[in-house]
Amino acid sequence: MLSALLLTVATAACVVAHPMGADLEARQGGPKATVYSSCKNKGDVALTFDDGPWEYLQVVSDTLVKAGAVGTFFFNGNNYDCIYNAAEQQRVKYAYNAGHMIGSHTWAHKDLTTLSWDQIHDEMWRVEQALQRIIGVTPAFMRPPYGNYNDLVRQVSYARNQSLVIWDFDDGDSTGSSVAQSEADYDKALAKHPNSMLSLNHETYKTTAYQVLPYAISKLQAGGYKMVSVATCLGLQPYQHVGKPGTPDATWKC
Ligand SMILES: *[C@@H]1O[C@H](CO)[C@@H](O)[C@H](O)[C@H]1NC(C)=O
Repeated sequence: MLSALLLTVATAACVVAHPMGADLEARQGGPKATVYSSCKNKGDVALTFDDGPWEYLQVVSDTLVKAGAVGTFFFNGNNYDCIYNAAEQQRVKYAYNAGHMIGSHTWAHKDLTTLSWDQIHDEMWRVEQALQRIIGVTPAFMRPPYGNYNDLVRQVSYARNQSLVIWDFDDGDSTGSSVAQSEADYDKALAKHPNSMLSLNHETYKTTAYQVLPYAISKLQAGGYKMVSVATCLGLQPYQHVGKPGTPDATWKC
């Protein structure tokens, strides 16, 4: 009884002492961003690539372009490497200039469901700022790391004018599937003749870049699918704003 009372007092004191707690309460029930996990347009496939920019971006991009396909890259700011390192800035530009869609995968690949309102904003704006600086765009779509989100994540996304993108097919590259398994999974999914597909892949695996992707593209083309960006397959705009890239200075760092 006494301990329950103490706990109540402690909890209340914590809310008062910690303004962010009160803030959170006030925001409960606020508008939530839309979560998309499938394409809308029949015959469209959106191939998405998470966790870069990294080493295999160029081959992924070239493979798509050669097939007349458009992909979507959800970039982190500081995951495999710092996005401001010269090689990574070049990769971001390479994908964007090749006509692929660029989205946010947030800054450091944290599980957003473990974070506060302010911490979620921080994970989001830092990569948005990097994309504004490097290619001049403010992304309209965010893929939450691990596909994990809750109401708070959706509320912050709404406040940032972004929608969430999950997937309806996972090639399994990030969870230990072999090339053969990933290819078999594509076969199995396509055997059901889905209207569309929103496919999760990672540009950070050599096997995905060199083996699974070429296989998937040939199967998708044989099935008559069109490989387009996430925005196109949803009939929406990819960016909130498109402006001019910035000029690098000492503040461009991780
Ligand atoms: C919000 O994003 C949409 C694109 O998704 C854009 O058209 C609109 O201008 C944005 N609104 C603001 C206030 O930036």
